[in-house]
Amino acid sequence: MKKYVFGTPIPTGAVVAEAEQCRAEDIPYFSVSDGNVLNFKMDNDTAVYGLGPNVRGINKRGWIYEAFNTDEVLHVEDRRRLYGSHTYLLIDGAVKFGVFIDTAGFASFDIGYTKSDDLTVTVGDGNFTAYIFEADTLTGLVKELRKLTGSSYVPPLWAFGFNQSRWGYKNEGDIRSVLENYRRMDVPIDMITMDIDYMDHYKDFTVDEEKFPKFPEFVSEMDKEHIHLVPIIDAGIKAEEGDPVFEECMEKGYYCKKADKTPFYLAVWPGKCVFPDFMNDDAARWFGDQYKFLTDMGIRGFWNDMNEPSIFYSFDRLKMVMDKIGDYKDKDLDVSAFWEMQALLSKISQREEYTKDFHHTVDGKLISNEKLHNIFGFKMSKAAAEGLERLVPNERTLIFSRSTFVGLHRYAGMWYGDNRSWWEHLKLNVRQAAEANMSGFIYSGADIGGFGSNATEDLAMRWLAFGIFSPLFRNHTALGTRDQEFYRFEKLDDFRNLVRLRYALLPFIYSEVMKTACNDDMYFKPLSFVYEDDKRAKEVEDELIVGDSILIAPVCEQNRTGRYVYLPEKMRLYRMRSQTDYDTQVFEKGDHYIECALNEVLIFVRPGHVLPITDARSVSSSYDVDFDSLTPLKFDENERVEYIQYFDGGTTREMNFEKFTRKIEF
Ligand code: GLC
Repeated sequence: MKKYVFGTPIPTGAVVAEAEQCRAEDIPYFSVSDGNVLNFKMDNDTAVYGLGPNVRGINKRGWIYEAFNTDEVLHVEDRRRLYGSHTYLLIDGAVKFGVFIDTAGFASFDIGYTKSDDLTVTVGDGNFTAYIFEADTLTGLVKELRKLTGSSYVPPLWAFGFNQSRWGYKNEGDIRSVLENYRRMDVPIDMITMDIDYMDHYKDFTVDEEKFPKFPEFVSEMDKEHIHLVPIIDAGIKAEEGDPVFEECMEKGYYCKKADKTPFYLAVWPGKCVFPDFMNDDAARWFGDQYKFLTDMGIRGFWNDMNEPSIFYSFDRLKMVMDKIGDYKDKDLDVSAFWEMQALLSKISQREEYTKDFHHTVDGKLISNEKLHNIFGFKMSKAAAEGLERLVPNERTLIFSRSTFVGLHRYAGMWYGDNRSWWEHLKLNVRQAAEANMSGFIYSGADIGGFGSNATEDLAMRWLAFGIFSPLFRNHTALGTRDQEFYRFEKLDDFRNLVRLRYALLPFIYSEVMKTACNDDMYFKPLSFVYEDDKRAKEVEDELIVGDSILIAPVCEQNRTGRYVYLPEKMRLYRMRSQTDYDTQVFEKGDHYIECALNEVLIFVRPGHVLPITDARSVSSSYDVDFDSLTPLKFDENERVEYIQYFDGGTTREMNFEKFTRKIEF
């Protein structure tokens, strides 16, 4: 592992290990020009991985991606940036190496877009550190990256249960009704998420007393049912006199500032807000301490949102537009005048421009957000995680973030933001799951069923059939979309069986995640990361290896009764309708058309491996799951196989492979 420093980079906090420093001009593999452009020549067979959950393929070749965290509501293939910046690439060709570009500002990765054999990384203002690492295998490269940036966060065991969410649950009654409906349907559940409506006028660290008159009692009522409430926390603090959080933030000067050092006012959900200055260590600590308001009431799980940061408008820009818009009143606008007016209006919410308008205080100096932009969400969620560690030192807590940067995986999980109820986005979810794992975000997931647009029953079921493997297992949807809790649909038995299958798989999923976290490995792997010499496997991006034992092949298209599956080796299929209802058959290496009805899940067990399952037929949450009596689903029934199980009770902050694993012979 070697590092090459260009200019004078601002530290990001991504790296935890020392690397040997070499002269920038000696950087291998790349030719450097203009002080900020790195070029690598790719041969025809080179595949390029990395960049975290993003649009397009797992092999990122053939597109241009930008690192500049953005609240992007449409994850379509012509986008270049989403919520996070994972500024590393793994190069898999005649040479195998990784490069991590450590910068908090803008960077672009042109991976054969402008010229098919050119990989060109252009780093904003030329102040960055490039780390180069090598290994013989792709998972070896992943491990090197993890050595550099630290080991992954893991949440408590209950965070691996089923989580029901919706933007629109308003009060205790709505949440009770979700639980009652799942109980009536006999579906296990561990969490119900509380989106922005639980707050008093969307103010962080408040609970609306009309909607939740006795919140601590409500939390313990849910706790008795083994339900964890998971409230949202947004990056903006409502600017309202009398609000203690806002007043303390202002008094202590912990807010982001304009160039003249006055507060930068912006609007998000609550209207006028300030951003706490997460780059300032005292402010970050203060922000982390605010979670006490909710941990004191028994809350142990949070999701941090709008932290790219997302801004509806700033007061200065809104005023500027309002002042000018009058010029267009009552005029007959020709096309250019009309476009001019449109451009003026779009200035209201030009998020990129705002990054120049507000500043952070680092070592007493003001630095514009533009230069630190990509670590804003990282610093917010790090502040939260560290706060939670101080507040609840003896327990693991749940935290996941929308905006991410390399290194945040040490503190939090992530979800992939506002997807849609589209079949294309189910496919995207499969690829993003592998991409998040590469960066170390093992606890991650997408909104199952899709966030925007309206889910159909078949989409929800196919998505669930993939989602049961996802560490973050959350059904979430947007305000105004069709209801998509599983009890809203007709085929209740099938939905129940699938969710129950998740709980039957829980000992395996938990164990594989924990082993992966201990070994700096990936829980979801693309086939190309396991069967590196198999050319065909390299092109399969809609199947994944889960942990060590199984290959999954979700059906991601509508009106299908099966799908083509490529098997890189001989495997045994378990086509499961429930934990007890399945058929099984061995398939040779190669391509096969495999039938898969809407209520079925395709699980292929690898030779020499086993999938242990537990009896989850009567569990109501992860609390009831039996981690001891496991039934093996083997490749070969007559073969003795060993399984290394990790189990630690699921709450301790201690991670210890030796202490918490046991060998089970099946
Ligand atoms: C953002 C989040 C979404 C949430 C909504 C309201 O769009 O990504 O998950 O439901 O805000 O808080």
